[in-house]
Amino acid sequence: MQIGIMGLGTVGTGVVELIEKNNDTITKRIGDRINIKKVLVQNLNKERPTLVEGKITDKFEDILEDEDISIIVEVMGGEEPAHTYIRKALSRGKHVITANKEVISKHGKELLELSAEKNVNLLFEASVGGGIPIIRPMKQCLSANEITKIIGILNGTTNYILSQMSERGKSFSEALKEAQLKGYAESDPTNDVKGFDAARKLAILSSIVFNTRITPEQVYTEGIDSISPADIQYAREMGSVIKLIAIGKKHENSVEVSVTPVLLREDHPLASVAGTFNAIMVEGDAVGPVMFYGLGAGKMPTASAVVADIMEAIKHKNGSKIHCTCYNHLNVMDAGAATTSFYLRLRVLDRPGVLSKIAGAFGENQISLSKVFQKNTMNGTAEIVIVTYDVPFQNLQDALSEIQAYKQVAEISTVIRVEGER
Ligand code: NAP
Ligand code: HSE
Repeated sequence: MQIGIMGLGTVGTGVVELIEKNNDTITKRIGDRINIKKVLVQNLNKERPTLVEGKITDKFEDILEDEDISIIVEVMGGEEPAHTYIRKALSRGKHVITANKEVISKHGKELLELSAEKNVNLLFEASVGGGIPIIRPMKQCLSANEITKIIGILNGTTNYILSQMSERGKSFSEALKEAQLKGYAESDPTNDVKGFDAARKLAILSSIVFNTRITPEQVYTEGIDSISPADIQYAREMGSVIKLIAIGKKHENSVEVSVTPVLLREDHPLASVAGTFNAIMVEGDAVGPVMFYGLGAGKMPTASAVVADIMEAIKHKNGSKIHCTCYNHLNVMDAGAATTSFYLRLRVLDRPGVLSKIAGAFGENQISLSKVFQKNTMNGTAEIVIVTYDVPFQNLQDALSEIQAYKQVAEISTVIRVEGER
């Protein structure tokens, strides 16, 4: 089976190496041998592995128009030209394997419909959770279930950064630099740090499990760049850790989708997921809770999912296997209506009456407080750390805009959601 690969960076190199290493076993398993015929790159002057000598091109048409190539692997990243290349490849009747969550989350419906029309495979296991099998289990193994909740850690870079900050006392920028050097981060790490990468992955997963089209823009998204060592320390004192958590919940006629930093109790199954590990928990009506855990980023874990997709496409070369199943048209719940408990950190003047004024604003907005601490008193100011009971986000925002206007309040430093029991 002749394949073309578009992109020879972290993942593309892993794909080439994994095929070389395991091709004999792969051949026995699928009854066909994978041969990499051409590899598309941007810069012809970069040094490349000897394994792909004589196969490199910088022209997409060299792969598209090669009649011997029936599978194209897209591991370039970015929305364009990747989206156009995938569309052209499918239109030409070629199977496509991609690791590109940006393209799948934004254009998955159109591309899956095109693949069905052309009766070719469009497979994207590596687009969510790196090496963790999650797309096929959702589309196949758990497809007899009604799934009402999905919660997970979907970004390796931010989990690595938060783990390094929490376990090794590293600064945010030190930990980010390490993640970039190790090839975990996206080409623009803003996508990781601001939560956009996880939002794309949640959009893909939610569309599959709730059978309704969810786009990344519909996911309420906050990043980890405002999390400070103080928050990590105060969370620890409360027996909790801070993680970037993706949550999708199905309500009667709507879906709630968010990616935000969350305080998790140390005994929560996601609390011990460290470094670049990702984990996804789903709740099915028949199967109950199921958890998927593994490396969510990096060269070989991601290559593992991509090469398995190539094998799957070869096994099903005569027909498309994974179809669009977004037959529902559910509303996405407004973030203000979503109810949860919150952790807040404020810097205020350390004077009589300040706490009661703040408490008054919470009371007027129907917010009940579960914990209040005073911390880190200095220069006539103090940090107030508050944990609320469950409250609609809108009520909290209303209370905080009142509190922000008080002259005794220097700043509202952090607002973080709290998951589970307090
Ligand atoms: P990368 O290291 O930046 O590599 C990108 C490759 O694509 C490079 O070889 C680059 O060519 C080539 N390329 C980029 N734009 C191109 C264009 N317009 N025409 C031709 N070639 C082009 O990226 P990566 O980390 O491997 O990620 C690839 C994809 O996998 C992305 O969609 C990413 O989200 C996804 N993914 C990555 C990971 C991970 O851990 N890294 C995990 C899961 C999914 P040059 O070599 O000439 O620059
Ligand atoms: N940048 C992504 C992450 C790579 O850190 O999880 C995997 O999609």
